[in-house]
Amino acid sequence: MSKQFDVVVIGAGPGGYIAAIRAAQLGFKVACIDAWKNAKGEPAPGGTCTNVGCIPSKALLQSSEHYEHAGHSFAEHGIDIKSMHLNLPRMLKRKDHVVEQNNAGILFLFKKNKVSFFHGQGSFAKADANGYEIKITSASEESITGKHIIIATGSNARALPGTAFDEVNILSNDGALRIGDVPKKLGVIGAGVIGLEMGSVWRRLGAEVTILEGLPTFLGAVDEQIAKEAHKLFTKQGLNIHLGVKVGAIKNNKKTVSIAYTDAGGTEQSLEVDKLIVSIGRLPNTEGLNGAAVGLKLDEKGFVAVDEECKTNLPNVWAVGDVVRGPMLAHKAEEEGVAVAERIAGQHGHVNFNTIPWVIYTSPEIAWVGQTEQQLKAAGRSYKAGTFPFMANGRARALGDTSGMVKFLADATTDEILGVHMVGPAVSELIAEAVVAMEFRASAEDIARICHAHPSLSEATKEAALAVDKRTLNF
Ligand code: FAD
Ligand code: NAI
Repeated sequence: MSKQFDVVVIGAGPGGYIAAIRAAQLGFKVACIDAWKNAKGEPAPGGTCTNVGCIPSKALLQSSEHYEHAGHSFAEHGIDIKSMHLNLPRMLKRKDHVVEQNNAGILFLFKKNKVSFFHGQGSFAKADANGYEIKITSASEESITGKHIIIATGSNARALPGTAFDEVNILSNDGALRIGDVPKKLGVIGAGVIGLEMGSVWRRLGAEVTILEGLPTFLGAVDEQIAKEAHKLFTKQGLNIHLGVKVGAIKNNKKTVSIAYTDAGGTEQSLEVDKLIVSIGRLPNTEGLNGAAVGLKLDEKGFVAVDEECKTNLPNVWAVGDVVRGPMLAHKAEEEGVAVAERIAGQHGHVNFNTIPWVIYTSPEIAWVGQTEQQLKAAGRSYKAGTFPFMANGRARALGDTSGMVKFLADATTDEILGVHMVGPAVSELIAEAVVAMEFRASAEDIARICHAHPSLSEATKEAALAVDKRTLNF
């Protein structure tokens, strides 16, 4: 008989490894299976997020921002640099080191919490009275059985039809994070989160970046006023963003890539670049799971079908993170992982989809939580809006980064905060206050009456809350 566990988690990305740890904390005997290998063939838990997503992209965003500041902003602060050059191999090595530290951290956490880690591909073999038998395929093969199974197999990059990723010239997020030489010309298809973040990295390092976006609106999910401001700022930085294009044939000429497209005005255009990043969304990873062996149901888009509690159609089989509906965000995956472990323990785990923050780590950053102004209008909701520009914030002036604003949307009658939207310096951190406020169903006035440290960027949040009632103090 195969080894028996209370909970078997398939996938050790943020959804899976956090679910495994929480289940172990709750007293269950837990196994976590993950297939990811690093360049040396060793286990590299942490999933997309740790290996080719959140962590390495933020490492490169940070390094490239330092480079840009050293080249363009230091002089204004009275710091003259005589000779400066980019050591890209060292920058990439640092990024790899940050990833390795995170991989090692997860293995340590598994040990600490007594989670049994298995390296290999997990797939359903059969269901029987003991639960579900999961076959683990690596150099050898073994099977384990779980009373409860949590599927957390994540997602992978969607390719354009007929244009496979070779990760040399035509790059997914994986190749985009390890380009060995700064391309002179970089093309990006899709002006979404990855396109803007990776486009920013390589632009700062010296590439001429052209982004082709299919939709006529820029960042359609972002509050229109914030998206408009961000578009203006990114364009000023030198990102060439073309909206409303129709991408045609893509030719990989080995040294370059040519892209034929029709622009928004209907004119045929072509673009020749050294490297092309295709960032047009991601697809759920369900292929290796052999869900058919147990009758696991997928939805019409290929995600594992789940209800609001992350229950699949099979008893005691749950699914969390990118492989199920909802935003593809690491913290959403983690929240679902914790909630499922708690539900297995008979507790009332809960994920509030209305208060999941979004951050785009460009410079300036974009962050938001709750509803946008266009969503409130479409829903016919009466609301009040208040904005405050970083231009009028003392700390932003001292930093030398005054771009952007904070915007509050509150119910016209009750003043309850319905959405908070930001573009500006460090807003990835500022948004946390808004998330807390919305979780506690605070009013804009609650934030306006709270004492915020001076000088701090968070004063812009307070002032935007004051602006809801047209009583800013510093603008
Ligand atoms: P994943 O992280 O994809 O992990 C799934 C794991 O399961 C992988 O290790 C995979 O190898 C393994 N697996 C799959 N099938 C099997 C199988 N059959 N057997 C065993 N193992 C299997 N989100 C944010 O919130 N903030 C960010 O800043 C951010 N930046 C990103 C930047 C980029 C470039 C990308 C691509 C994504 C980014 N994301 C970010 C999104 C984030 O990475 C995902 O939402 C998150 O990783 C999803 O977690 P997950 O656990 O569901 O899946
Ligand atoms: P995305 O959904 O953010 O953006 C894809 C963009 O490509 C969209 O604007 C879409 O209109 C466009 N597009 C789609 N097909 C196209 C085509 N044929 N031609 C031209 N444009 C086309 O997806 P992206 O950037 O690939 O990222 C995937 C997901 O990863 C994100 O949605 C997000 O959930 C996650 N992520 C999160 C980050 C963060 O939290 N900071 C960072 C990076 C990724």
